[in-house]
Amino acid sequence: MPLKAKPVRASRTQIADLMFPADANSRGTVFGGVVLKMVDKAASVCAYRHAGGACVTVAMERIEFRVPIYVGEFVVMESQINFVGSTSMEIGVEVYAENLETGKRRHTNSCFVTMVSVNKAGSPKKVPGLLLETPEEKSRCREALLRRQQRLAR
Ligand SMILES: CC(C)(COP(=O)(O)OP(=O)(O)OC[C@H]1O[C@@H](n2cnc3c(N)ncnc32)[C@H](O)[C@@H]1OP(=O)(O)O)[C@@H](O)C(=O)NCCC(=O)NCCS
Repeated sequence: MPLKAKPVRASRTQIADLMFPADANSRGTVFGGVVLKMVDKAASVCAYRHAGGACVTVAMERIEFRVPIYVGEFVVMESQINFVGSTSMEIGVEVYAENLETGKRRHTNSCFVTMVSVNKAGSPKKVPGLLLETPEEKSRCREALLRRQQRLAR
């Protein structure tokens, strides 16, 4: 029986953490691996919510650190599903750094994570379809489909 499709909003996720000195690299700005771990977590929660069970990370794309994040900043990640295939999902993760003294929030990164729903044996498992309710969700889905086609062509 086909799985019941779910709307994007049902799995939209926000996670956040305050950056401490232990999160810094030798230059005193936040270590990239700390940010990547949070990206992976934000995408995982989103994927688990949509799939309703275990998922694994198969690919991360467009990982660019264009501006530094500083110790003492509050890092916020917003994730949402852009596209679902048969067993995989592309999740977009937006990264923001908030200065708690000024309240100013900077957009520092955007990246795309592909996660695959798996069964107990670790084999890919079908995921519910995605209900696209807004023009923005439809546009994100079209762009994700293009990325998938380019990936498969490679
Ligand atoms: C993810 C995994 C289960 C996929 O198994 P597989 O036998 O390669 O499965 P398939 O070839 O049938 O691909 C399954 C889906 O993943 C997608 N996929 C596979 N490789 C991909 C890649 N490099 N980039 C993006 N998507 C990919 C396929 O397109 C397919 O999507 P679809 O079902 O929506 O069409 C397997 O590769 C795995 O266990 N990888 C290790 C995961 C891991 O340990 N992650 C880190 C810790 S969470």
